[in-house]
Amino acid sequence: MKALVYDGTRDVKVKDVPDARIERPTDVLVRITTTNICGSDLHMYEGRTDMETGRVLGHENMGEVIAVGDGIDRVRVGDLVCLPFNISCGFCRNCEAGKTAYCLTTNPDPRMAGAAYGFAGMGPHNGGQAELLRVPYGDHNCLILPEEARERQSDYVMLSDVFPTGWHATELAGLRAGESIVIYGAGPVGLMAALSANLKGAGKVMVVDRHPDRLALAGQIGAIPIDDSKGSAVDRVNDLTNGAGADRGCECVGYQAHDVEGVEHPNATLNNLVHSVRFTGGIGVVGVFVPQDPNSPDSLYQDGEVAFDYGLHWFKGQTMGTGQCNVKAYNRQLCGLIEQGKARPSWIVSHELPLAEAPSGYRHFDARDDGWTKVLLHPAA
Ligand SMILES: NC(=O)c1ccc[n+]([C@@H]2O[C@H](COP(=O)([O-])OP(=O)(O)OC[C@H]3O[C@@H](n4cnc5c(N)ncnc54)[C@H](O)[C@@H]3O)[C@@H](O)[C@H]2O)c1
Ligand SMILES: [Zn+2]
Ligand SMILES: [Zn+2]
Repeated sequence: MKALVYDGTRDVKVKDVPDARIERPTDVLVRITTTNICGSDLHMYEGRTDMETGRVLGHENMGEVIAVGDGIDRVRVGDLVCLPFNISCGFCRNCEAGKTAYCLTTNPDPRMAGAAYGFAGMGPHNGGQAELLRVPYGDHNCLILPEEARERQSDYVMLSDVFPTGWHATELAGLRAGESIVIYGAGPVGLMAALSANLKGAGKVMVVDRHPDRLALAGQIGAIPIDDSKGSAVDRVNDLTNGAGADRGCECVGYQAHDVEGVEHPNATLNNLVHSVRFTGGIGVVGVFVPQDPNSPDSLYQDGEVAFDYGLHWFKGQTMGTGQCNVKAYNRQLCGLIEQGKARPSWIVSHELPLAEAPSGYRHFDARDDGWTKVLLHPAA
């Protein structure tokens, strides 16, 4: 099969690799129809993870089931399915508690919890930027989509990651109807956090970034865009909230947060959140942070440490929730919102490309080139 393979820093290629296949009776085999490039792929693409060369990337996957193992009861050949980026078992202690991002059985490294397709540090599983994908524990992991999803793949594919992850950011922050929220990062995840905040009835939604095209997408759904290249985002949020700070805040950037000149400061968004969320407010951090980052230009962060304004965070009595999104906790409900026409997450999609053009898609999305907000690949095209 053809697949997009990681070959080293800023080097991905479409190659012929052995076909994905049923390996265990509980597997499902999916022919991928749509698979997205994610900001998480860029941490790997930029050589800022220990991703090994030769792995197939791609964790935002949907497609049609073409084979099922002997132990599969529910999923049938022909079903159109969307796969959570987390690979989970459903029967371990964390899965039982709904924390499928921290599955204890699908990552063979005993010091780690959580697995994903084509993801550094999250098990050996190949990704779905390929013609075929092996889905472990298929009955548990496949979200079977309604028939209309065949014609609306750019909406439904967002259920694999960014829509649930944006929703999760607002959950971790503790958002309730009527409250104000500031979201740092207007990439796909930050934009989905803004959409989720709207769906939850937030009063005022503010989104901070410095790319006009991304800020414009935030504006299209009624959020207040804040361009931090034009002045302090913290001051602007405080002005917009009568000096109190936002009720809730979301971190949707991650450890490669940088200033407008491009210099990385892994603590930048965390500290801005402490300063722009009110006393007793809540902060949700879904932007990725990692335990080691040997190539970080920030010497503290090489060991995963940040200079965090803990004193003020403590003094303000803020709460903070963090981590990977448990996609299965939300994907069925969010699917309902798409099906009922109440959510249209495809508004962020800028490009739909055949798999052969994936390397160019990576290049443009990585450069955050103007207008490259979300790239969908269609391997079956
Ligand atoms: N927790 C999860 O389950 C989960 C799931 C998906 C993605 N992620 C992570 O979420 C993060 C965002 O993903 P994405 O796809 O939107 O990525 P992205 O890289 O496309 O978007 C990040 C945005 O942040 C902006 N930014 C950079 N520094 C900033 C700063 N100091 N202040 C404000 N904005 C700043 C960039 O301009 C960019 O638009 C990544 O770290 C990704 O790995 C986490
Ligand atoms: Zn993703
Ligand atoms: Zn599990």
